Amino acid sequence: MSFCGITEVILNQKVGPEHFLMRVLAPELTKKAKPGQFVHVRCNGVQDPLLRRPISLHGIDYEHGTVSLLYQVVGRGTQLLSEMRVGEEIDIMGPLGKGFSIPDRVEQVLVIGGGIGVAPLFPLVQALKRYNINQTILLGARSVEYLIGTDQLASLGLKVETATDDGSHGYKGFVTDLMEKHIKLAKPDYFFACGPNPMLKQLVKVADKFGMAGQISLEERMGCGVGACLACVCKTVAGGKDKTVDFEYRKVCTEGPVFKANEVIFDD
Ligand SMILES: Cc1cc2nc3c(=O)[nH]c(=O)nc-3n(C[C@H](O)[C@H](O)[C@H](O)COP(=O)(O)OP(=O)(O)OC[C@H]3O[C@@H](n4cnc5c(N)ncnc54)[C@H](O)[C@@H]3O)c2cc1C
Ligand code: FES
Repeated sequence: MSFCGITEVILNQKVGPEHFLMRVLAPELTKKAKPGQFVHVRCNGVQDPLLRRPISLHGIDYEHGTVSLLYQVVGRGTQLLSEMRVGEEIDIMGPLGKGFSIPDRVEQVLVIGGGIGVAPLFPLVQALKRYNINQTILLGARSVEYLIGTDQLASLGLKVETATDDGSHGYKGFVTDLMEKHIKLAKPDYFFACGPNPMLKQLVKVADKFGMAGQISLEERMGCGVGACLACVCKTVAGGKDKTVDFEYRKVCTEGPVFKANEVIFDD
């Protein structure tokens, strides 16, 4: 972590039915920020320790020293965040966690976002672009209003395909169906994904079927955000020294939120 303290909100605007884009000044934080990392934001002015919430880095402006957060209002914390005004002070810490890493020798990748899971994918697709890696973006949401960021991604010259549960935009059905179609057609060699756990679970099954490796970013509930409280653990295949155990628990806040897709165990 390179920054923990008070900074200023310079933008907080509604961009979807329940979605807001916030920008904050944080030059110290941007210096070390990487795609897939997150910040832990205190959602109100008072010292309420229960009100820090993890939000992904959606935009990292290294030149101007700002970070953008794209968030969906789902409860008290995000509601309070949406009520903050430009010029108000905000308490953030970050960058936290381990983000995406781009493996050597990948040429063609799928980047898959479900719902608000699109948020951390923006800095990733920009990095992939800088590495000249061919990418197709698949976005899934319940309906067209919940597809956030499609136009911005397309304006970067990227191929974007969409799936909605109700068919109001793109393919009618799950983004995992779209993924399967795409794998059969274009045979990509790697994938990156972020979204709700049921989507990630299905997506890993599809990837397994085709022997495709990838990375997934998990959205577990968090407490401290820095590895101290164990609120955020997820089940993973055992990789430690103890060969007698099949699985182990790992902290999403410090060992994730991005994991190799074949490491995570999704229980039924
Ligand atoms: C590493 C990480 C990055 C994240 N990045 C973003 C982001 O960029 N944009 C964004 O909108 N959200 C993101 N989230 C999810 C966000 O942290 C939660 O939506 C937020 O904490 C909810 O707080 P609240 O007080 O508004 O809602 P609460 O009152 O705490 O919860 C409201 C409802 O949302 C569910 N919920 C709360 N937190 C989570 C969670 N982490 N995962 C799944 N369901 C949850 C609760 O079970 C409840 O049903 C991220 C989560 C993690 C762990
Ligand atoms: S949130 Fe406290 S250990 Fe991860």
